[in-house]
Amino acid sequence: MIQSQPRPSGFGLPSDTGGRDLGIFMPMANGGWILSSNAPALDGSYDYNLKAAQLAEEIGLDFIMAMAKYRGYGGETKHWNASLDSPMMMAGLAQATSRVKVWATVHTILQNPAVTAKMIATLDQISHGRAGLNVVTGSYRGEFSQMGAWPEGVDHDERYVLATEWIRAIKALWTQDAVSMEGKYFTLEDCMSNPKPSTPPFLVCAGTSKVGIEFTANEMDALFLSGGDVEELAKASAGAKAGAAALGSKIRTYSMMTIVFGESDEAAEETAAHFRAGFDEGALHGMMRAYGFLDSEIGKENAFTKKARSTFMTPHVLGTPETVVERLSEIFEKTSLDGLMLIFPDYHASLPIFGEKVLPVLRERFPADAVATTHG
Ligand SMILES: Cc1cc2nc3c(=O)[nH]c(=O)nc-3n(C[C@H](O)[C@H](O)[C@H](O)COP(=O)(O)O)c2cc1C
Repeated sequence: MIQSQPRPSGFGLPSDTGGRDLGIFMPMANGGWILSSNAPALDGSYDYNLKAAQLAEEIGLDFIMAMAKYRGYGGETKHWNASLDSPMMMAGLAQATSRVKVWATVHTILQNPAVTAKMIATLDQISHGRAGLNVVTGSYRGEFSQMGAWPEGVDHDERYVLATEWIRAIKALWTQDAVSMEGKYFTLEDCMSNPKPSTPPFLVCAGTSKVGIEFTANEMDALFLSGGDVEELAKASAGAKAGAAALGSKIRTYSMMTIVFGESDEAAEETAAHFRAGFDEGALHGMMRAYGFLDSEIGKENAFTKKARSTFMTPHVLGTPETVVERLSEIFEKTSLDGLMLIFPDYHASLPIFGEKVLPVLRERFPADAVATTHG
């Protein structure tokens, strides 16, 4: 159990204005979030991401976020075998945009907190106060053992103890002249980090376990829920907020949504069926290996493979822009989610449609929240 501790000054509790944030999950690894040889072949390149980020800003979205990924799933599509560095890419995109929040991902088991503090302070300057940090503990052993960086003997829950020390060190470095601390995992000795961020960077985490949610409630501004249907999302969001309240804290909740547009709902369903016809079995096996399934389990059907066979790695909405408006409205009406991070089969083709036909109606129904005011 990680003990709660007061947030350092400058790290207020998130506001709760009832607004909803909409952003995109940057396709910075090849293949995006669809495991299919029939899906548009997203290359994960900087140029592709640059245009997607600029479109997101142009149509009026609130944030862009990039994951951090060090090993792909392989298969016919070599899914995620090529991925850009998250903070480096977001630094470029911060320069190329002027309004969207830019959230980069860093693994607590890989980066020294003083290095990360400086990285994100740099992102703050480049973006003029739009920087955010997605904190991930590192869940997938192969990603890190391949580089000799898997902390043997530090189990899942203990990695959140490490993460707690890590983020507290960073917050101290962002707010204090010099920091000395002797932790179990990190030692700082009269450690200095300047410049300070102009605005406290927005802190998000996607821990779904009990300790992950606890860590998020104690230390972060927002929690990414991993998905489910409307009822599951409503339950997960309410549960996370109630858990945070019990700890004397408050968090925003977000989830992911893949959107497939069609000229009719049937046409969108047909597109999804086409994706399913090209399902990448090899990439599924690679993903299962990354998630810790045993070799003896791979190739057998279970709840995980059943879900994966949709080819979509997240919950999805298939249909006309009008159908998408109604489905997203239903999510916002029936859950306490504060935002959605959107995924498209082809961002360049879909973002203009989303901007023209979906966003104006959603904005009217659910006004945008100003994340920048979150830290008050
Ligand atoms: C929106 C979202 C983004 C995530 N980004 C990353 C990432 O960039 N790198 C990573 O290793 N894990 C990522 N994860 C995995 C989470 O950090 C986390 O490990 C996982 O949801 C399991 O939760 P737990 O750590 O509490 O068990 C992400 C999960 C979600 C839902």
